[in-house]
Amino acid sequence: MAHHNPWPDEGNTGHIWDEDIRELDNPPPLWWMLSFYAGFIMIVFYALYYPTIPLTDELGGSTKGVAGWTQINEYNDDFKVLNDWRDAKFADKEEKLASMSVAEIIKDEELKSYAVATSKVLFGDYCAACHGAGGAGNPNFPVLADDDWLWGGNINQIKASISNGRIGNMPARGMMGNLTDEEIDQVTDYVIALSEGKGGDASVAAGKAVYAKGMCLACHGPAGKPLAPAGAANLTDQVWRFSSDRAEIRNVIANGVNVKKNGQYVEGTRQAVMPAFKERLPDAEVNIKRLAVYVHALGGGQ
Ligand code: HEC
Ligand code: HEC
Repeated sequence: MAHHNPWPDEGNTGHIWDEDIRELDNPPPLWWMLSFYAGFIMIVFYALYYPTIPLTDELGGSTKGVAGWTQINEYNDDFKVLNDWRDAKFADKEEKLASMSVAEIIKDEELKSYAVATSKVLFGDYCAACHGAGGAGNPNFPVLADDDWLWGGNINQIKASISNGRIGNMPARGMMGNLTDEEIDQVTDYVIALSEGKGGDASVAAGKAVYAKGMCLACHGPAGKPLAPAGAANLTDQVWRFSSDRAEIRNVIANGVNVKKNGQYVEGTRQAVMPAFKERLPDAEVNIKRLAVYVHALGGGQ
């Protein structure tokens, strides 16, 4: 650093290095100062406009800001924009769903895929607790993703199941309620043989006679296959509505399904109630159609 200043008039600070490198005393450029002040104003504006200054919980957590802005408000506003856009985009499809019958909807591939795509969340919220994800079934709740139907698998029957609900009824101990324990054992063996395609075997002839005596055929059909869908299970396949366990099958025959006495389920009876959804679902009119199309498409629609 030199003590002698050879450039006294140029406004340097007197700090000189390596003979000629000087520190000058210039004001910052105007553009820089303006940005600096603008930044300051922005800070004040920002602090007033947005929730900025943290406070204790008693004082409300933070200053609120004059704009009333919060992340949640912003999220809700954006969400509304998205929803309005979606409503507008799909308005014509929703209108068609509302005005067309389910039978017409399943003939229109585009509308059908739309109904299926928009049913998944609905099914998850309202149906999957009983019928399993994707209609795969749960113990005691029927599989919807196969072609084995209690109440019929055409689109109108499926729609009726969802809209009005279904209650399967099977009396305990045969139609007249008069089968003995021994007869119940025999008919149980017959039913199991039916499911294995051995209903004609001589070993189950006694059970076959009980099947006639108990008038099982009134609901399950003369050969174990219901003549028309009215809630009774098909006994000739390997699909068990309740259980393939012999003791469970016997129990269904002994105690029936949904058998009530004085308004109470009798002990041991199988409870099988599909609730009616026409008053439970939001926008039931359209959403029941949507779900019927979805269930129909799950695999077994007829
Ligand atoms: C509380 C449990 C429960 C819920 C929730 C439920 N179901 Fe069911 N559902 C059942 C039961 C039990 C049956 C069988 C009724 C029977 O045994 O006769 C059934 C039967 C059905 C059937 C007739 C099946 C056949 O084989 O004919 C359809 C279709 C159906 N449900 C669709 C739905 C849809 C769609 C939803 C959602 C909106 C739904 N279910 C919600 C319990 C439920
Ligand atoms: C009034 C009609 C009716 C009569 C009579 C009837 N059933 Fe049923 N049965 C049903 C219904 C309905 C179901 C299915 C209930 C359900 O899934 O909700 C059923 C279910 C069954 C099941 C369970 C099937 C499975 O897949 O788990 C067996 C086994 C059975 N019945 C045997 C019989 C036998 C044997 C008789 C005669 C002794 C008989 N049923 C008489 C209506 C009847």
